[in-house]
Amino acid sequence: MGDDSRQVLERIDRERDSYLEELKDYLRIPSISTDSDYSADVLRCAEFLREKMSAAGLSAERLETDGYPLVYGEWLGAEGKPTLLFYGHYDVQPPDPLEEWRNPPFEPTVEGDRLVARGATDDKGQSFAHLKAVAAVLAETGELPVNVKFLIEGEEESGGESIDTFVRRDGGKKLACDAVIVSDSSMYAPGVPSLLYGLKGLAYMEISIVGPKQDLHSGSYGGGVANPGNAMAHIISRLVDPKSGRISIPGFYDDVVPLEEWEREGFAKLPFDEAEYCRSLGITETFGEQGYTTLERVWARPTCDVNGLYCGYQGAGAKTVLPAKAGAKVSMRLVPNQQPEKIAKLFSDYVCQVAPPGVTIEVKNVHGAEAVLIDAKGPISEAAMQALEEVWGQAPVLVREGGSIPVVATFANVLKVPILLMGFGLSDDALHAPNEKFNISHFYNGVRTTVRLLDLVGASDRE
Ligand code: BES
Ligand code: MN
Ligand code: MN
Repeated sequence: MGDDSRQVLERIDRERDSYLEELKDYLRIPSISTDSDYSADVLRCAEFLREKMSAAGLSAERLETDGYPLVYGEWLGAEGKPTLLFYGHYDVQPPDPLEEWRNPPFEPTVEGDRLVARGATDDKGQSFAHLKAVAAVLAETGELPVNVKFLIEGEEESGGESIDTFVRRDGGKKLACDAVIVSDSSMYAPGVPSLLYGLKGLAYMEISIVGPKQDLHSGSYGGGVANPGNAMAHIISRLVDPKSGRISIPGFYDDVVPLEEWEREGFAKLPFDEAEYCRSLGITETFGEQGYTTLERVWARPTCDVNGLYCGYQGAGAKTVLPAKAGAKVSMRLVPNQQPEKIAKLFSDYVCQVAPPGVTIEVKNVHGAEAVLIDAKGPISEAAMQALEEVWGQAPVLVREGGSIPVVATFANVLKVPILLMGFGLSDDALHAPNEKFNISHFYNGVRTTVRLLDLVGASDRE
């Protein structure tokens, strides 16, 4: 490690408190992109981030879109050196259920090594680590060993449509780069840094069933009128075979890329304790597609899950009512080669085909994302492996994930450069759930890893 790197790392230690305070300010802004009540906060968050990029020494701007702005920053003073594009998202998930939070979700609270707040790990804390690394190097040395671009979106949690349009239209001009760096995922286990080479895709569907024009007395009308709740239950029960765990939609598996032997062997070598997994989740046993291990199902086999179900009386006690409507939100996590649009169509056709008579059914394709598989070889991946090993004290493992980051497939298809998925979270970070947290030590290690990555990539000449 050169003297510059060492001095930068010392600066990070010295300024640790101010970095954390800045991150807390970022987390105080409720930038919930899926709820239009918060649109002013999302916009305020974009401006906050633009100012932080500017203060770090990047030339920064907000790029307006049809939705929420992208925040873009660049420093291109390293002539002849590679360019890294850092991607992240400044929007967050809704905090519900609110009553389960120990502290208000947008009042970041330190509990030992944990910083608890909505967005702490997903993705404000992780992507802010990239920015603070660049800020630290620029403050210490006045320059960077590589060129950097930052592109941070405000709609990832609601499907990432605007950034997708932007990247396609740009076609690699403003975004020209040698690699994309993403920290928006978790490490395989505490102390075990990880490089991801696969993310799942997504087809998110909503089923609405309408029956009579208003709720009816279930005695006076039951037997004479089809019940939207019963109809919905029937449809849902036909999606996944309860025995084999296979998805029953005809054609669903047609395009699935099977797991390769080296992957199955690699997954099998990872420490995975099924009993501990069940215990930590409060379940009695795992469930999924027969013939595959839990890791294989979660990382590399497609799934179909109800995400929300609403119908009829939800209050305390009994209310004898035949509900007028029912709704369900269903997500299908996809694997490479499954096309979200095609899967959405197969789903809609199947739902309409199995629907019982007497009700009106509407199926909506809410949003989708393509899965990605990345070739995690090449000089940038090697630099990342080395940076991760230096900072975390252990060689990283290669893993896949069940989550989705919609724009990553678009980056891969349009920019055609290597993509590094290097997450600093932990599996108990509770992303999208109450009491989301990010380990403060992981935040600082994320900053350090990024500093080392910049240095190592800068030391290798541009091929
Ligand atoms: N950061 C997550 C994706 C993720 C989670 C990757 C865990 C790896 C491990 C991202 O913010 C996310 O939540 N994505 C959504 C996308 C959807 C809303 C289009 C997801 O996966 O549900
Ligand atoms: Mn995320
Ligand atoms: Mn998320």
